[in-house]
This record gives sequence, structure tokens and C-alpha cells, in this order.
Amino acid sequence: MDKLLVHGGTPLTGSINISGSKNASLPILAAALLTDQQVIIERVPDVSDTNYMLQILSALGCEVERYSGTVKITAANIHPEAPYEIVRKMRASICVMGPLVARLGRASVSIPGGCVIGDRPIDLHLKGLQAIGADIDTEGGNILIEAKDGLIGKEVDLRGKHGPTVLGTDNLMMAAVLAKGTTVIESAACEPEVMDLADFLISMGAKIEGAGTRRITIEGVESLGGTHHTVIPDRIEAGTFMVAGAIASETGITLNRVRKDHLQQAAEKLIEAGHYVDFSEDGSSVTVKPGDDPQGCKILTAPHPGFPTDMQAQFTAMFATTPGISVVEDTIFPQRFMHCAELTRMGADIKVDNGSAVITGVAKLGSAPVMASDLRASAALVLAALKAEGTTEINRLYHIDRGYEMIDEKLLQLGAKVERVRGSV
Ligand code: EPZ
Repeated sequence: MDKLLVHGGTPLTGSINISGSKNASLPILAAALLTDQQVIIERVPDVSDTNYMLQILSALGCEVERYSGTVKITAANIHPEAPYEIVRKMRASICVMGPLVARLGRASVSIPGGCVIGDRPIDLHLKGLQAIGADIDTEGGNILIEAKDGLIGKEVDLRGKHGPTVLGTDNLMMAAVLAKGTTVIESAACEPEVMDLADFLISMGAKIEGAGTRRITIEGVESLGGTHHTVIPDRIEAGTFMVAGAIASETGITLNRVRKDHLQQAAEKLIEAGHYVDFSEDGSSVTVKPGDDPQGCKILTAPHPGFPTDMQAQFTAMFATTPGISVVEDTIFPQRFMHCAELTRMGADIKVDNGSAVITGVAKLGSAPVMASDLRASAALVLAALKAEGTTEINRLYHIDRGYEMIDEKLLQLGAKVERVRGSV
């Protein structure tokens, strides 16, 4: 297993290009199953999660070509069984269910495991598909979905106890585009990644209105065609590096290929914490630099347009050395605090209780060997290590490689002193 050595204390400078969005790419890649025509998708980040999805598509019978960030997929002769050994590695594999049952009338997908950020139920995914006519059964750890009489559009409310579901909205939307009649998704997720999927489907010939709002209307069509689409920038990668600019630079760093309208929550919170955030005129670049008098604040995560749960760990790393008290409450994944124990090993003062972390800023963090646990927690450890004195060793780097494309190259480009140590196993 690879590890990352971070020699902290060197101020970051310069600029990098932000990659295409992992969380937009995954459902868009799955949506290629909806047509027998070729689709071309650009700016797909080369991370293990997108590679897993491409492996699943190949295993389902798709022709897949990938060069640099461009992926070409033709799902001409596909079958409905998603392979367990790959699906178990990535929960987002679940979003092949909707397209498979829409295209083939049935699907067999293994039940995804939970993960460290919380149990990851799929009851809302199944509720949505059942509502439009799919029969659901389970056998040997697989979900078996069948729509013997085809899918029939219906009105479905997808709200769960933690609010809307991103991939659940995606799954139902992808099934509904080929259903008979009209489907209305109430309490739909409205994250930018859901909107990007809707744009992709519309470019294939789907009839979708309201993506980006809580109510999405899909009028089923007979079939979909090929398309050529560029994935939106990764707003979570951008937000992660914005925090790096706030805590580990002196004169600021610049992130290119971003979208200002997708970064409002992170920008507003950094400004509230006393840092400087300046977007270019067209909003495609942002420069972040430390404020002179940073102060702690409160974060309450919420479904978009609220503060993203995928950004709270990174801000917690920032609050670890921000004077004063900060509070981070995650209403979406109340257990998503694995990073706090590791940050505490580096000298942070964090109390975690009942879905919240109370952080008392300390003057400095010390280096220590720490363990990455999930994608965003690992990013938080890298941020803390950039700020800490000495060399921090971050183990189990594969967690970061799931969702951050070439993170060590990007950090080196910003002047950070980091080195990836290739693991023997
Ligand atoms: C997506 O996961 C993202 N992943 C997650 O990012 C992100 O944290 C999450 O949305 C919330 O924004 C991808 O897009 C690939 P949900 P998803 O269904 O769709 C509960 C990252 O770091 N729920 O919106 O799986 C669930 O437990 C990853 O990039 C049900 O109860 O999340 C949670 O509390 C981590 N039943 C809440 O809803 C269901 O059937 C939101 O989950 C589905 C979800």
C-alpha cells in the first residue's frame, strides 16, 4: 500500500488545473448503458472509482476505450449481471441498476457494503424503481430487479430521513427516461452532479425538466442516441485545494478550470473564517490566501444548496489551527468523523459527539504517522500535514486515489514537499 510523506511548513504557491468531477462522472458513465450508440465523455478523472466503473461497464459487455481524460463507450451488446468482485469495491456501482432495468428490463447487482462514513442504505433507490413498476428481490447478496411489463412513469417522493438522495435521484432519473409516460421525482437531489447527469441524458434525447430543483419531471422516450459530453469540474477537489490555500500558503494559490457557481458554500465559509477568496471575472479561476485574523465558525452540512458533507472534513482540518472554537455538524453522515482521531494524534483539540465535532484551535500541529480511512478524511489529513511541522506519514493512500486525480503531482506543482512511497503490497 502506498503512503504519502508530507514535509509540512513549506508555503504553497502557484496554480493548478482542477480535474473533472468524480461524482458527476460515475452516474454519467453508467448512463452510457441506456443506448446502443457510442457516447464520448471528456474530462473523466483518472481515479480508481472511475476505473472501477469502467471495469463494471466492460464486464456488462460494453466496448470501452479510454485515453487521457476522454472515454468512449458503446453499450451495444450488454447483459444485466454486474460482477460482485468489482461492485463490492465501490458503492456508486449501484447506479447501474436504473439504466440496466430501463434498457434490458432486468438487473442483478450485488448489495453494496457500508463504509466508514456510515451505513449506506439503498432503500430509496429501490423505492423509486419499484414505484415505476420494477419488482425487487434479493438472492445470494444480489439485488434482482425486473420490470416484466416495462417501466411506467409515476410521481415518487424520494426524501429519506437525511433528506434527498443523490445517487437515488440519479438511478430513478436514468430508469425513467425510457419508461412509458411521465415520472415526477419529488424531493429530488439538486447537486450540480445531478444536473450534469440530466444535461448528459438530455443530449442523448431524454426529455427532462427541473433538474437542479427538488421536482424533476421526466417524459419517457422510446430510445436514446449517442452524444459527446464534457463533465463539470470537481467542486470537492476545488474546495479541498481552496482550504489548502487558506491554511498552507502565504501569498495564495490559484485554481483553474473551476465553476464559481459550484463553489459558493466553500467560498462563503472561507470568507466567514477570515480568509481571502477572489474569483476571476468569468468564474473559471479562484485565488485563495490566508486572512490576517482567521476565526473559528460553525458548519452545518445539508443537501445542496447547503454546505456539502464532502467538504466538512477538510474544513475541520483548517479549524484545527484556527484561533477560537469551531463546530462542525454533519446532518447527512453523522458518523463521518474518522479524521478527527487522526487529527488529534497530530495535536488537534477536537471533541466528537453525536454527529458533531467541537474544535478548539491550537497554535500548531505536530507530524505523526496517521491512517487514511475514507476519501475526504484522507484529504483532511493531507491538509493538516501541509500545515504541521515536520514530516507526516499518511498511510493507506488508496483512499485518496479513489477520488483525487494525481494529488501528489498537484501538490508538488504548488511547491509542497511531498513524496509518494510505493507500497510493497
Ligand atoms: C453521493 O453519495 C456522493 N457520492 C457522496 O460523496 C456524498 O457524500 C453524498 O452523495 C451526499 O452528498 C457520489 O456521488 C458517487 P445519498 P450517495 O444517497 O448518493 C441516506 C465522496 O466523498 N440514504 O445522497 O450515496 C444516506 O445514508 C462521496 O465523494 C438513505 O437513507 O449519498 C445519507 O444519510 C462520499 N437511503 C443520505 O441519505 C438511500 O436509499 C444522503 O445519501 C440512499 C441514501
